[in-house]
Amino acid sequence: MPQPATREQWASRLGLVLAMAGNAIGLGNFLRFPRLAVENGGGAFMIPYFVALLLLGIPVMWVEWAMGRYGGQHHHSTTPGMFGLLWKHPVAKYLGVLGIGFPLMITIYYCYIMSWTLAYAIFAATGYYAAPTDETVAVKRLAVAPAELKALRTKLSLKEDAPITQAQWNLAAADFTTLDVDHNGELSPAETAVVSDPLGNFHTKRFLKEYRQNGDPGESGRYFSSIWPAACFWLIAVGLNTYVLARGVSAGIEQLAKIAMPLLFVFAIVLCVRVLTLTPEPGATDSVWTGLNYVWEPNTSKLMNFGTWLAAAGQIFFTLSIGTGSIHVYASYLKRDDDIALGSIGTASLNEFAEVILGATIAIPMAVVTFGLLNTQAIAAQGSFDLGFVAMPLIFERMPFGSLLATFWFALLFFAGITSSVALSSPLVAFLQDELGTSRRTAALICGSVVFLFGIPIVFFDKSGSYLGQYDFWAGTFGLALFTFIEVVIFAWIFGGTAMWEEMTRGNHVRIPRFFYYIIRFVAPLYLGILLVGWFWENFSSVVLLEGTAAPEAQFLWLARATMVLLLIVLCAGAWWGTVRRQRKLASLSVEGGAA
Ligand code: TRP
Repeated sequence: MPQPATREQWASRLGLVLAMAGNAIGLGNFLRFPRLAVENGGGAFMIPYFVALLLLGIPVMWVEWAMGRYGGQHHHSTTPGMFGLLWKHPVAKYLGVLGIGFPLMITIYYCYIMSWTLAYAIFAATGYYAAPTDETVAVKRLAVAPAELKALRTKLSLKEDAPITQAQWNLAAADFTTLDVDHNGELSPAETAVVSDPLGNFHTKRFLKEYRQNGDPGESGRYFSSIWPAACFWLIAVGLNTYVLARGVSAGIEQLAKIAMPLLFVFAIVLCVRVLTLTPEPGATDSVWTGLNYVWEPNTSKLMNFGTWLAAAGQIFFTLSIGTGSIHVYASYLKRDDDIALGSIGTASLNEFAEVILGATIAIPMAVVTFGLLNTQAIAAQGSFDLGFVAMPLIFERMPFGSLLATFWFALLFFAGITSSVALSSPLVAFLQDELGTSRRTAALICGSVVFLFGIPIVFFDKSGSYLGQYDFWAGTFGLALFTFIEVVIFAWIFGGTAMWEEMTRGNHVRIPRFFYYIIRFVAPLYLGILLVGWFWENFSSVVLLEGTAAPEAQFLWLARATMVLLLIVLCAGAWWGTVRRQRKLASLSVEGGAA
C-alpha cells in the first residue's frame, strides 16, 4: 500500500481534547438547545434528552472515536476509506461519502450563521443596532392571561406552543375582547402580534430582517439597505475557515481551539453570573428562577410524545457532532493505542457542561425575566434566531454595561461557531489530501470555494430561510440519524461485535462497561431505526413531497435538494477516482519492485 511519509498528528493531549470540544461545542449549544428546551416543555424535554445522551450519544461517540483511530492507522481519515476497510464491499465507500457530504452541507449554511455572530459582535461593541431615539424600548408583556391562551389552544385542538393563525384568532375573537384594541370585533395582525410574535415590533427584529434583507422591501433602509454588509461578513467567515484549515491540524485547528475555547468559557461564565444576579423588573411575575425551574423541574408530560423524543435525539446528535463524519477525522490523528474512552467522555462532558449548564443558564432565564415565560415560549416557537439575535440584544440594551455583555455573547457564539465550522469542513479537506493526494492548502482552497459557491443562494436569494432549512433538515437532522444508523450497522454487525469491542477497548485507561456492547449492537440501531421509520411515517407528504408549499417556493426548495444531490454525486466520483488512484500507485510500485 502506498503510504504518505508522515501523517499529521495532534501536538498535545490537551490540544486534542480542546479541539474535540471545539468541534462539539457550537451554535447548537447556545442557540439551538435553549430554543428546543423551551419549545418542548423545559423539564419535559430533559428526560428524553438524557436518555438519548446515555443510549445514543455516548456509545456512538465511542464508535466514532474507535473507527476514526482505526482508519487513521490505515491512512484513511474519512469515512469512505473507513467503511471500505470495515466492509469489503464496493458499495461501502459510496455510503461513506455521506460522511463528507453531510458535514459539507452543514458547513455551507453554518458559515453564514457564524458570520452573523461575528458581525453582531462588532455591532454590539459599536452600539450599531441601538434603538433609534424615537422608539421606546418598553417590553410589552403578553396581554393575554396564560390560562386564556391555553383554553384557546384546547378549543382549537392545537398542540401546546403551536402557532395560531390569524383566521383562528378571529374565530375566537369573542374570547379575547381585551386584545381587540379598536373594538371592531376582529383581531387584526397588529393586535395579535404581541401574543404570537412578541418581538415583532422591536427594532432588533427589524435590524435582523434588514441585515438579512428578508423583510418587506419597504422596511429596509434604517440600518441596512442591501445584502452587501452581510455578504462581506460571510466572505470573512468563509475566509477565516479556509485559513485555519490551510494551516493544518496542529498549527491551525489545535491552535485555534487553544485560544477560542478558554475565551468561550470565560465569556459564558461571566454571562451566567450576570444572569443569576438579575432581578425581575417592577411588576414582572417571572424571575430567573422561574426560567431555571422550567428547565430543571422534571416533568413527564411529554413522554408519550414521539416528536419530543425525536427532537431530543436530534439535539444530542447535533450537539455532540456525531453522525457527521467529522469526529472520525479528528480521531484519525490519534496514535494506535491512544485512549479513546476517556477522551470521548471528556469531550462529551465539556460539551454537556456548555450546553445544559451554560447554554440553559444564559438565554432562557434572561428571556423569562424580561418577557415572561409564556412570551419566551412564543419567541422560541419562531426558531433559533429570534432568541439569540433579537431577544438577547434587546435585553442587553436595557442593562448597565449592556454593550460589553452583548459583545461577550456574540463573541462567545463566534468562537463556538468557528471551532465547529472547521470541524465540519475537515472531512472534505482530509479526503482531498488522503485520497486524491492534494496538498493541504489546495484542499482548503477547494473546500472554501465549494462553501462559497453553494452558499450564494443562501446568502443572496433565500428570503425566508427555507432553502437553508432544507440543508439543515436533510443534512443536519435527518442525515445525522441516517448516517449513524449506517455506521453502527457497519461497525457492530458487518465488521463484527468482537472486532468492534477489541477496537473500542484497546488502550483505554478506564474500562467501558460491557453493558455498552449490547447498547451499541442492539439498542442503538433499533432506537435509530424506530426514529427514522416513525419520522417517515409522520412526515412523508409534508416534508418529503412538500405538500402544502406554494409552487415557486417549492421549486426553490427542490433546487436546494438538487444542489445537495449534485454535491453527493461529485463526491462519489471523487471516491471512485481515489480508489483508482490507489490501485494505480500500487500497480506501479509493484512494477518498480519487480524491476529492481
Ligand atoms: N455540534 C455543533 C454545534 O453544536 C454542530 C455540528 C453538528 C457539528 N455536526 C457537526 C460541528 C459536526 C462539527 C462537526 O453547533
